[in-house]
Amino acid sequence: MIPEIGHFALALALSLAVVQSVLPILGASHGNVRRMQSARSSAIRQVFFVGVALAALMRSFVVSDFTVRNVAENSHSLKPLLFKIAGTWGSHEGSLLLWVLILTVFGAGVAVLGSNIPAATKARTLSVRAWISVGFLSFLLFTSNPFDRVSPPPADGSDLNPLLQDVGLAMHPPLLYFGGSMAEVVREGTRFLSPQDRDAMAIYLFDAEVGGGRGHREGRRGVRRAEDPDRLRKRRGHWPRSERNELMRPTRRDALKLAGLAGLGAGLPRGLFAAEDIPELSAQVARLQLLPDSYPQTEVWGYGGTIPGREIRVGQGQRLRRRFVNDLPQASSIHWHGIRIDNAMDGVSGLTQDAVAPGGTFDYDFVTPDAGTYWYHAHNRSWEQVARGLHGPLIVDEAEAPDVDREEVLVLDDWLLNPETGQIDDSFDHPMMMSHSGRTGNYVTTNGRYNLTLPVRRHERLRLRLINASNARIFQLKLSGLEGWIVALDGMPLASPAPVEDVLVLGPAQRTDLIVDVLAEEGETADLVDVGENFSQVVFTVSGTASQTRRAVPVALPPNPKMDLPDLAGATPLRLVMSGGAMGRMDSAILKGERMGFRELAAAGRFWAFNGVAEMTDTPLADLGLGEPVRLVIVNDTVFPHAMHLHGMHFREVSEDGALGPLRDTILVGGRETREITFTVDNPGDWLFHCHMLGHAASGMTTWVRVA
Ligand code: C2O
Ligand code: CU
Repeated sequence: MIPEIGHFALALALSLAVVQSVLPILGASHGNVRRMQSARSSAIRQVFFVGVALAALMRSFVVSDFTVRNVAENSHSLKPLLFKIAGTWGSHEGSLLLWVLILTVFGAGVAVLGSNIPAATKARTLSVRAWISVGFLSFLLFTSNPFDRVSPPPADGSDLNPLLQDVGLAMHPPLLYFGGSMAEVVREGTRFLSPQDRDAMAIYLFDAEVGGGRGHREGRRGVRRAEDPDRLRKRRGHWPRSERNELMRPTRRDALKLAGLAGLGAGLPRGLFAAEDIPELSAQVARLQLLPDSYPQTEVWGYGGTIPGREIRVGQGQRLRRRFVNDLPQASSIHWHGIRIDNAMDGVSGLTQDAVAPGGTFDYDFVTPDAGTYWYHAHNRSWEQVARGLHGPLIVDEAEAPDVDREEVLVLDDWLLNPETGQIDDSFDHPMMMSHSGRTGNYVTTNGRYNLTLPVRRHERLRLRLINASNARIFQLKLSGLEGWIVALDGMPLASPAPVEDVLVLGPAQRTDLIVDVLAEEGETADLVDVGENFSQVVFTVSGTASQTRRAVPVALPPNPKMDLPDLAGATPLRLVMSGGAMGRMDSAILKGERMGFRELAAAGRFWAFNGVAEMTDTPLADLGLGEPVRLVIVNDTVFPHAMHLHGMHFREVSEDGALGPLRDTILVGGRETREITFTVDNPGDWLFHCHMLGHAASGMTTWVRVA
């Protein structure tokens, strides 16, 4: 209804402008005072109607009304409010509307305040201004109505346009238009009493209105040039860098150019808007003292040459850009695990991008919609590359941080090292690694150290962000000398903090955010105990006191967007049966379209199957529609646990009584267990669904879903 009101207001403004473009100027040439004066009221009313139209459009942007095509194309529910508002002038339609509003405001200013202007001049001026309004308004109404509806509406807008998410660019159009009009007023107010000046004014008006608008739109075009390649790549696969600049879709915005409004002048230099200075994230070979000092250094592969990789930290809803530089002897790509990401940036070699060859680069550029603890890791030959150390923490900060004294990011990992040489065992592809529980190491570390020790104070409150970056190890942890609450799982906040009572289980790729209070006395230690290995994963040495008394139980973290429960009743049922592995019951499976026996499969390095197929197929496990609720039964017909990870979306577990668990991106399914998950399909693209025991993923446990 509101968009229709906007549309109607625009039509009324146009009819007023038509009248004003004729009557006053006729009045001036015939000396008819009443006609001359009619300009005043129509100028004021135009402000009102154009204002209503702009407000209606802005409201549609603010409430993310994607039934309005302009909003769907130029906004996104994840944009911060300021940029939703700025989206109003992020398209030529909205930008024109804003300009017409400023034009009419200043017109009304001339009409009301310009008492020093001779009546005839004033009448002519207002008519000339009205011509321009008529032009703009009819262009809007007849060629690119900003209030057009689209049906069915998309689930979300298509434009996160990160380049426009810059405060400067957001404010640029209003400031530019306002400034242009101010200059014009100064001119009108001071010296257009002579006929020559009237001519000058006419030229000036043309220049300011057409020229000023052009400058802005050229800016937009520059922006589009910079963003377009990514969109194209998303649709059609990876494009070589050199071709990118030529790839421009003609759009409705180009209609402006055809109309001759934007075609004047050379425009701004392209480079001004191109995305160039991206921070680099290199993957490189490094030698580190991973083992105790009496051992030799270990050659690892690390992001930034460190273990774990360099911590990346951004604010929620912000844009994250990194130029991946591959200094490894092997092709690679980076997956941003757990981020509900733009599919083109998901970093899956062979699905969402080509692996980046040694010496090559790839620019990752995306928005981080959810706060929480995430991680990034290699996604090409990941069973080798992650094992060699290619992973790092990715932390998205809440707008309002929880009340803790400090936080620690703890990346848990294990390594399979040769005890003699201290080097990484390179039997990555060995059948033993693939067909059993996965590549489990013989050396466990936290943040690359076997004896991580952190000083704390008694009664200090810490947030611990635990990340399991190992290939296959399931960590079982206990708190000692600490009282803790789970506040988030796989990045997503729990509705209320859950006290840690027993063993914390952390499967590969899973994360747990804890808030812990130090209860141990001064001079003692508190520990994060690895009950599986029976040693202290992290030692906290207590000295000093943070406060005399305990604090109150922590409150929940602020929720992330889109955490609503899926519609279980209407959900599409899917099923995934996992089979194979040592001691399993898989006697045959499909590989390369042919049924093969277990021996043949093993010879081809395949030990597992999803729904009887031992490879990632060309067709997805499921073709899903945006907004579709899904329930997926996962039957583990093997004797090993598997950590199933879905890319691009989080899901909830459905327990037997139908209750829904917390949002997760990775679920640990024990041997011979059946579990069910559910989610609303809300992220378009091709998403991998695989076991995060990375050797399993490589030997049959990988499939994918398509969301269109
Ligand atoms: Cu953590 Cu497919 O990835
Ligand atoms: Cu597995």
